[in-house]
Amino acid sequence: MSSFENLRIVDNFYQTSLFFPMPTVVISTLCEDGSTSLGPYSLCAPYYVAGKDYYAMLLCCRNSSNTAQNILRSGKCAINFVDDGPKTFKECVKLSWPGDKPGDKMPKCAFRREKSQIEEQTGEKRPEVLTDAIQVLECTWMRELDGAENDKPGILDGYEPPYHDFNGITSQFGAHFILRVDRILMKKRYSDAIINGVQARDFPPLPVDYGYRDSKNFWFHRHRRMRAELLPMRQASLESV
Ligand SMILES: Cc1cc2nc3c(=O)[nH]c(=O)nc-3n(C[C@H](O)[C@H](O)[C@H](O)COP(=O)(O)O)c2cc1C
Repeated sequence: MSSFENLRIVDNFYQTSLFFPMPTVVISTLCEDGSTSLGPYSLCAPYYVAGKDYYAMLLCCRNSSNTAQNILRSGKCAINFVDDGPKTFKECVKLSWPGDKPGDKMPKCAFRREKSQIEEQTGEKRPEVLTDAIQVLECTWMRELDGAENDKPGILDGYEPPYHDFNGITSQFGAHFILRVDRILMKKRYSDAIINGVQARDFPPLPVDYGYRDSKNFWFHRHRRMRAELLPMRQASLESV
């Protein structure tokens, strides 16, 4: 006999029917007037990690969000990993009210921003990045994948079919974006750790987010002490990892 309960699989099952640990990122995108808009996201994960001509992340979001609309238009975004401070998370939640336009929320937003490194070096217009982010991925949407190059912004009350399977507009209210990683930016303290080898104390204080529950709260916890588990392997196998 099974030792488990069998839960209903419903919309947003990852946060309604599961305890699913996720990152918290703030995505910056370019508005039509060239200003930067910020939106908090958790459904953002590595997608192409090896064996392709480029590396990519996947973002899953409402297609009417400012983020989705701006990516459809400009193709550019930056994925900012913020720290686990309660004030930072509060600021993220403040940016999450569906329907708030950048003009409503950005003037009240406390996150400091600076010019994209790519823009600084090449002149190509890019969204600003968060100055206090621990790490940032500057990205370009691969709009030609899955035939999504003709997906256009401008529809905020639900897109009509046909829908793509995994890139661009994927349902009436949904979008997925495969985002090429153009650059990884990291604060020196952490990039030094990556280059020199990490100790437990070198891991950055990133939050773990469990999403929105009971139509009321976003739940998260702060970074905790890291533990290392030695791989019980022979030398030859270690070299192959
Ligand atoms: C911590 C956190 C994580 C979120 N993750 C997602 C997500 O992965 N996908 C999504 O569609 N909405 C997510 N939301 C809700 C969006 O932030 C919300 O739709 C917001 O309006 C998006 O802002 P934008 O319209 O400026 O892009 C999240 C909200 C918070 C606070």
